[in-house]
Amino acid sequence: MNRKYRKTIIAGNWKMYKTATEAKAFVEQLKSSLPRAKRCSIVLCVPYVDLPAAGKLLKDSRIAVGAQNLHWEEQGPFTGEISANMLADLDVKYVIIGHSERRGLFYESDLTVNKKIHAALNAGLRPILCVGEDLDQRRLGVTMELITYQIHAALAGVTPEQMRHVVIAYEPIWAIGTGNTATPEQAGEVCSAIRGILRKLYGARIARSTTIQYGGSMNEKNAAELLAQEDVDGGLIGTASLDPDTFLKIIQIANQD
Ligand code: PGA
Repeated sequence: MNRKYRKTIIAGNWKMYKTATEAKAFVEQLKSSLPRAKRCSIVLCVPYVDLPAAGKLLKDSRIAVGAQNLHWEEQGPFTGEISANMLADLDVKYVIIGHSERRGLFYESDLTVNKKIHAALNAGLRPILCVGEDLDQRRLGVTMELITYQIHAALAGVTPEQMRHVVIAYEPIWAIGTGNTATPEQAGEVCSAIRGILRKLYGARIARSTTIQYGGSMNEKNAAELLAQEDVDGGLIGTASLDPDTFLKIIQIANQD
């Protein structure tokens, strides 16, 4: 982390877990036990149907609400889809875009990821853009090439002004939900390379101020080491965000000096 130049963001990604009733209980517990220190921002990316309840309970709190996906069109005949404006209307502030589960299981392409980034930015949402390699790509030694490509494709047409609202999450696919966390050095190396890519695309000032999270089996045991890396500015946390006590512990770690 380097709090001098950029925000540290701890974001939960609930994926397809928790009913609205369960979400309410979680949020109430988390709100009542938050640390006083406000050194990190907190985001909860909840299922679509939990957004109204979470938004209501978190209004005027320090915890921002996020979604996990959107459709790139403003409206239209797209059965089952949700637009950026619909999210913004519910006071959603962040939206995860290009998560590897969406790319892999729902065939999202780099082109649709790019369209979604633009749709989010145009609606005033802050995209959390996910990039990351699978195990074969790491073994083949093409991690940096892949990530360079993913970032160039996702951010095509994004202006320097818009870039101030973009968060990037480095999520190695082999580490997601597997318990195989990247080592702090591996996470730090790729996050720092991502900052280098942003420097070339947008210049030193924007690169320095962009929040770059790590995601992939981050938990209360490994968070301190991962966050100690200069270029790891927070976490996108799946499994360990489902239990309020565990999530709170990670927030406390990110809040430490
Ligand atoms: P995990 O998920 O923490 O369960 O590995 C992270 C993510 O998919 O964002």
